[in-house]
Amino acid sequence: MLMPRENSLIIDRKSWPKDRRWVIGIATISIVATIGYLYEWVSVASLPGGSSRSGFLYGIVAGLIIAFELLLWPRKHVRSWRIGSAQQWLRAHVWLGLLSVPLVLMHAKLLFIGGLLNWALMITFLIVIASGIWGLVLQQFLPRMLLEQVPAETIYDQVDHVASQQCKETERLVKATCEPGIQALHWDKEHLHENLSEQSAEDDNDDPGFVVVTGFRSMTGIQGKVLDTVPVYKTIQGTQSISNHFFSEIRPYLTTGRQSDSLLVSPMETSRLMAKLRATCPTEASFVIDHLEHVCTMRRQLDLQIRIHHWLHGWLLVHVPLSVALGILLLIHVPVALMYW
Ligand code: HEM
Repeated sequence: MLMPRENSLIIDRKSWPKDRRWVIGIATISIVATIGYLYEWVSVASLPGGSSRSGFLYGIVAGLIIAFELLLWPRKHVRSWRIGSAQQWLRAHVWLGLLSVPLVLMHAKLLFIGGLLNWALMITFLIVIASGIWGLVLQQFLPRMLLEQVPAETIYDQVDHVASQQCKETERLVKATCEPGIQALHWDKEHLHENLSEQSAEDDNDDPGFVVVTGFRSMTGIQGKVLDTVPVYKTIQGTQSISNHFFSEIRPYLTTGRQSDSLLVSPMETSRLMAKLRATCPTEASFVIDHLEHVCTMRRQLDLQIRIHHWLHGWLLVHVPLSVALGILLLIHVPVALMYW
């Protein structure tokens, strides 16, 4: 898949030796092109545009670059097009895209242009470039933020499933410990799964007497799901308020996160509720309250993951459709410009 993993960077310190060659190449071409343009400007004593010698040449090169930029789409989505590595394509995409800016500006008479089609083309081009730079900037720091602030990161498509699974497991624990008449048999022995999305057979066990509590843990860089180990043999008296708060406030938050408009979105409000429960419930129930606090933290992390994911990918909703529009406008621009030359 061409898209870098959400926590990998297109351009970073490690890629600098490769990027340096691009930077030197592009800077050299831009300087030479600018000198050629200035020379023509001085020799003909008027601002060269698309029909001048240098302007025409830069227009052809910029057009070819834009065509190459558009090829990123088939490279990414058409299986038989897998020529070259994803990183090579992306690096060429970013650096050649930037090179097209001075070339297009000189081709377009440094923006002293007229005509609706020319302006539509120019504005579309500038938005595509600006959105590309914005996306690149986002990809520089959001993946790191994801890594640091979302240790419970899971596969994006499975966020809802993981959240609902956690909620179901927590509900079993609350029912077993805080509601008279439902007996918990035991907690599962602690073990670590390498994959967060992996669901153990126990997770699907609907036996109301079997309690499995899931947490997330990071060990030597491997994040995993932890099934905790606390034996529970009977209902704990005086814990009805835990169950009440779970069903009225915590469960809606665990299932729908930020969309629930719950106050538990705030870590401070969560701590306040947990402190209240600790103060009013017997100490033997503290592991249940600890777990509730823990799953609220996990839910907050999953919400942050969703938001980061939207930021990381949302800009493509501008970049891609407008780059298609740019290609279409360019196809109209070329024959029209040649006709009026
Ligand atoms: C005329 C110029 C450009 C055109 C026509 C263009 C077009 C495209 C297209 C078609 C895609 C593929 C999107 C997809 O299918 O996912 C793409 C992705 C992308 N473009 Fe551009 N682009 C241009 C310039 C730029 C520039 C100047 C930059 C950055 C400085 C940039 C950064 C990116 C990035 C980061 C991606 C996402 C690649 C990925 O993560 O898979 N683009 N662009």
